Amino acid sequence: MNIAIYPGSFDPITNGHLDMIIRSSKLFDKVIVLIANNPNKVCRFSLTSRVRMIKEATKDISNVEVDSFDGLTVNYAKEHNAKAIIRGLRVVSDFEYEWSYAAANEFINKDIEMVFLMAHKELTFISSSTIDELYRSGVDISSLVPSIVIEEYKKLEK
Ligand code: COA
Repeated sequence: MNIAIYPGSFDPITNGHLDMIIRSSKLFDKVIVLIANNPNKVCRFSLTSRVRMIKEATKDISNVEVDSFDGLTVNYAKEHNAKAIIRGLRVVSDFEYEWSYAAANEFINKDIEMVFLMAHKELTFISSSTIDELYRSGVDISSLVPSIVIEEYKKLEK
């Protein structure tokens, strides 16, 4: 079975992430969307809420699972017999970050391949913090995120 991990903070999941998940699910037998820890980030949404959003957004894709992990992504990949870590590339500046992320992962474990998918051009401007800024400024984000994300934003306001 060819298993791939798609890691990220997903704070929140966007249609850009979802596009990566859908495309990966056609390339691999199983894709595990992994909420991993980026020590440089303080998340707006709780882990429970992020898991809920991704599960709801991917509920119709039978070979996608959702999990979270507080260690190194390559170690999680090895423990789950995954062969690859999927990453999306949107703009040139992503490449610089991905280069060192891939190099660090290779240093830890050479057996896990990094697989990069190019984001569709209409989705390249989306990031979780852009979504947050747009929502907080009153812009309609319904075409940029799964509908569950808007529900979770409304819960945050209560
Ligand atoms: N569509 C839309 N947005 C995308 C995207 C896509 N295809 N790809 C990336 N993004 C956005 C993310 O939403 C995020 O936005 P934000 O900064 O506004 O929140 C931004 O681009 C950066 O994404 P990413 O590079 O995936 O960072 P991340 O913080 O979400 O995830 C981890 C990084 C968690 C995967 C990484 O830190 C990790 O693996 N941590 C575990 C520890 C580890 O193994 N470290 C590596 C070795 S030292």
